[in-house]
Amino acid sequence: MKLYTTISSLQVAIKTDRAKGLKVGFVPTMGALHEGHLSLVEQAGTSSDIVVVSIFVNPNQFNDSNDLANYPRTMEEDLKLLSTVRCDYVFYPDVEEIYPVPDTRQFSFGILENVMEGKFRPGHFNGVAQVVSRLFEIVDPDLAYFGRKDFQQLAVIKNLVLQLQLRVEIVACDIVREPDGLAMSSRNKLLLPEYREVAPLIYRTLMQAKSLSATSSLENVKEYVLDEISRTNLLTAEYFEIVDDTNLQSIKSWNEPGIKVGCIAVFAGKIRLIDNLIF
Ligand code: PAF
Repeated sequence: MKLYTTISSLQVAIKTDRAKGLKVGFVPTMGALHEGHLSLVEQAGTSSDIVVVSIFVNPNQFNDSNDLANYPRTMEEDLKLLSTVRCDYVFYPDVEEIYPVPDTRQFSFGILENVMEGKFRPGHFNGVAQVVSRLFEIVDPDLAYFGRKDFQQLAVIKNLVLQLQLRVEIVACDIVREPDGLAMSSRNKLLLPEYREVAPLIYRTLMQAKSLSATSSLENVKEYVLDEISRTNLLTAEYFEIVDDTNLQSIKSWNEPGIKVGCIAVFAGKIRLIDNLIF
């Protein structure tokens, strides 16, 4: 595993591999790695010849400066974890390397960005698009791996690839959960013990809601989820939506065609957690 902090040194290595006809797989991350990230890296290892992982806490995608300041940074542990799987190159640039001049590009994702995360975190997806397009330009991967936990992000990135007509293939990877069901997230590291204890209620509630959906109305299922979450005063739901998996719009009836996904954002104290489940 080699560590690069500059674009030019990373590109020299990748160019040599590409000249040998090797397929480059890319896993962009913001560090604070966990088993979920490792599963993306492992998946990259099975379908690509060279695995590149980037670790870059992208300031442009934080709409809250406290959230950016508190975002966990655990570089040493991250490198240790990456050494347990097949990772060829780690790209660890600083902000000036990625943004030598401020990135003022404005992307538009239409209806995909006006709901859920896009609604509650204004500017977030524009920042994600800025960094992901920049990283794609630098790495020029054949395949890039993203987790389904960030379900809306995945849809936005697929749309970005279409808009920019990039050749990269986006690979969606399943959510990895703690034994108690909590979706793995870098932010879990920030949960105080009492919040960590109640956080699995989020997934349990999604599972119950899915069972209920066989016999209950859409409204009742939504009400059930919000009521369940508010049963502990340690959790506050920001939204719960059941959406169509391609256009991300709230469904109006169970009879609508297509795959339906229950998406939730919950505050556990100051820490915001998201999760989703296919219904
Ligand atoms: O999902 C993340 O960790 C980030 O949004 C990403 C895709 C690495 C861009 O900073």
